[in-house]
Amino acid sequence: MKVNVFFVPSNIDDIYFAGKTTVVVDVLRATSTIVTALYNGAKEVIPVDSTEFALKVSSSTFSGQTLTGGERNTKKIDGFHFGNSPLEYNPDNIKGKSIILFTTNGTKAIVKAKFSKNLYICSFLNLTSVSRLLASQESDIEIVCSGGSGYFCMEDTVCAGLLISEILKVNPDIELTDSARAGLLLAKSYESDLYKMLSECDHGKLLNDNGYQEDIKFCSNLNVYDVVPVFSANTIKIPAVDKNETAS
Ligand code: MLT
Repeated sequence: MKVNVFFVPSNIDDIYFAGKTTVVVDVLRATSTIVTALYNGAKEVIPVDSTEFALKVSSSTFSGQTLTGGERNTKKIDGFHFGNSPLEYNPDNIKGKSIILFTTNGTKAIVKAKFSKNLYICSFLNLTSVSRLLASQESDIEIVCSGGSGYFCMEDTVCAGLLISEILKVNPDIELTDSARAGLLLAKSYESDLYKMLSECDHGKLLNDNGYQEDIKFCSNLNVYDVVPVFSANTIKIPAVDKNETAS
């Protein structure tokens, strides 16, 4: 098994992902929001790569069952139901609903990786669940950090490195590319205080300036949710537990 990390998704062609097992990370905040929304009972999250497409999809599905969420420059988009704060996606707001989500980097990275054979959503909030699933599979792994408008982001790379560190605990023989090794080193430097790292990184500082301190705190929590959101057929869901598997 080989693990590779992309620090940013911008220079990868969509077709590269065909047949691959891919994990997308956007700690601040898209993948933290997606896992929270699904854990709290959203039916699905539909990631889109433009606001126009978000409005088109929401107007073409049942009104009342579909909500729009996301951000532009960290703030809620005019006409959308929610912003991109995971704290907004509580059960009272979203239970049973389809959420169409547009974010500056995270949902675009997911849409870019849409041809993957397996496509998983990871944040600090569900890191160990993702690592367990990956360690149980034989496939090579591509971890895509969403980055910030084409630039490296510390928080996504530290999350990628921690994910690798967890997989190594189960399978110490995995092969790592140079970028995977670099992610692992950064994770070792920052894992003791993820909140501090998130507060001091570029996007954390911007979120702080825009009043989202609570989001930074929330997104720094490790392993709050034991779920792995899976992208398939243009939508992200938590797969139903196979009853035969639990019976055996
Ligand atoms: C993104 O996709 O760039 C983000 O998740 C931005 C944010 O929520 O602040």
